[in-house]
Amino acid sequence: MSDSLNHVAIIMDGNGRWAKLHGKDRSYGHRQGATTMKNLAVKASELNIKTLSLYAFSTENWKRSEKEVNYLMKLPGLFFDQYLKEIMEANIRVRFIGFISDLPKATQKVVANAISATKNNTGMELVLAVNYGSQQEIVHAVKSYANDVALGYRENDLEVNEFENYLMTKEYSQVDLLIRTSGEYRLSNFLLWQISYAELYFTPTLFPDFDGDQFESAINDYQSRHRRFGGAE
Ligand code: FPP
Repeated sequence: MSDSLNHVAIIMDGNGRWAKLHGKDRSYGHRQGATTMKNLAVKASELNIKTLSLYAFSTENWKRSEKEVNYLMKLPGLFFDQYLKEIMEANIRVRFIGFISDLPKATQKVVANAISATKNNTGMELVLAVNYGSQQEIVHAVKSYANDVALGYRENDLEVNEFENYLMTKEYSQVDLLIRTSGEYRLSNFLLWQISYAELYFTPTLFPDFDGDQFESAINDYQSRHRRFGGAE
């Protein structure tokens, strides 16, 4: 594994279509997606990826039906009940980005428990984006910065690198590879600042079917690319 693949992000799309293809309701697709999520997290940690960020619920997903939103809010609890043991065995540290304090109290508790149970793990960081939106994150960061200036904590002399300290991802490196499943070519408000120089990989595979071998293919594709970061040959 190349040293440069520190951070992989995945837009996990296609659970609903997968469920429909199997004649089931959307919740079934999300449940299967959660299993895929765990498999990819274990695989990524075996591949020595430092950070894996997964888009689990966007700030726009509240527009879905009440039934689907309720299920998606319950899913983190089901996920950790079923998979915490494997996550511990893989030495994965679980983190979250997003507006967590706006989630239902029970979901917030699951989030806090997952962070606390895995906080001493020293392997890969699994960053789950829940109630996350990149534009909202950036606006939130700008407000914090403006507040710091207004209170006299700092000069109005912001540099690009420093701005990252105001983002929810301040502890993680820039994204190297962004994968989106299900054949859609969109970024959907995910880590827009952090993917400035990421390589993009799109696959038609619906997320529940995106397995470890396909994940490795995406990584091999990434390894074959030549990143110039705006420089010339
Ligand atoms: C997009 O597919 C998927 C989501 C909005 C939810 C993704 C969530 C998971 C895979 C599991 C989350 C679990 C935890 C533990 C946080 P879609 O529903 O938009 O699919 P469609 O485009 O085919 O309808």
